[in-house]
Amino acid sequence: MTWFRLGGTARWLYRPHDVADLSAFCARARSESVPWKILGCGANVLVRDDGFDGVVIRLDQPAFRDVHWCDDGVEVGAGVELMPLAKKCAAMGYSGLEAMAGIPATIGGAVRMNAGGRFGDFGSAVREIRVLDRGGSIQTWNQERIGFGYRHSDIEDRVVLWARLELRPDDPDKTQAMFTDFFEQKKATQPLADHSAGCIFKNPPGASAGAMIDRAGLKGTASGRAKVSERHANFIVADRGATSSDVLRLIDIVRERVFDAYGTRLETEIDIW
Ligand code: EPU
Repeated sequence: MTWFRLGGTARWLYRPHDVADLSAFCARARSESVPWKILGCGANVLVRDDGFDGVVIRLDQPAFRDVHWCDDGVEVGAGVELMPLAKKCAAMGYSGLEAMAGIPATIGGAVRMNAGGRFGDFGSAVREIRVLDRGGSIQTWNQERIGFGYRHSDIEDRVVLWARLELRPDDPDKTQAMFTDFFEQKKATQPLADHSAGCIFKNPPGASAGAMIDRAGLKGTASGRAKVSERHANFIVADRGATSSDVLRLIDIVRERVFDAYGTRLETEIDIW
């Protein structure tokens, strides 16, 4: 269920029917001390080889996948997939999500990690969200409360349920061309067909993790069946037979070598379970 296709199993998989169902689950999990995590589309997650002894929740039922168009944007459930949505917005001439071209995520995951790249971040389009806390109660947060930063939000262990995105009407030829251009640039520079979790490390302030790893001569460096991508040095790609331990060892090797070369300690961008 992750893009890496690595890691151990979860004890349970739970696909709530709707918010009431999920909210009742949260209250019960808390009273029985059962750990749980939400999995979006698994594009930014590395699950350790011993798996997760708890409940993995996926918001993939219709109640979490509502899309409602309005004059100034769109309201979407947390389980909606970002890329098809961004593509549709661009085709309809709704500007604001073009920079999401080629970013695999659900809306919930994109809010939580403030998905994005060189061309923009998801958070700049988000006006309002609804979140569920661990006790099962629902709050509405505005953009300021969400606290978006570089691959960061203040969501922490809450569950994103819904988001309202602000979009601007524009010329569909223009929005579509922009979407295609961003996607082409991504395809040209990143190993999108391989099993990976996208960029492994955050860019340090004012620097590029990919360029640092590349200049440290680490492209192609392997640990077991995991390898630093030859195409983009901030990607670790997993070949058939790789384990999560291979990836974790390689993360340590890269971190150490970059530290030796530049004195900079790279911070992981991916979520390690
Ligand atoms: N570079 C190298 N060697 C490499 C890779 C990059 O020299 O192997 C150089 C590039 O030539 C460029 C600079 O490093 O001068 C920056 O590279 P790039 O434009 O690829 O952007 P990035 O900062 O590495 C960020 C996001 C990506 C996003 C791209 C494009 C981070 C950590 N990464 O990459 O996001 O797709 O911009 O918008 O912020 C992700 O989050 O998973 C991800 C892939």
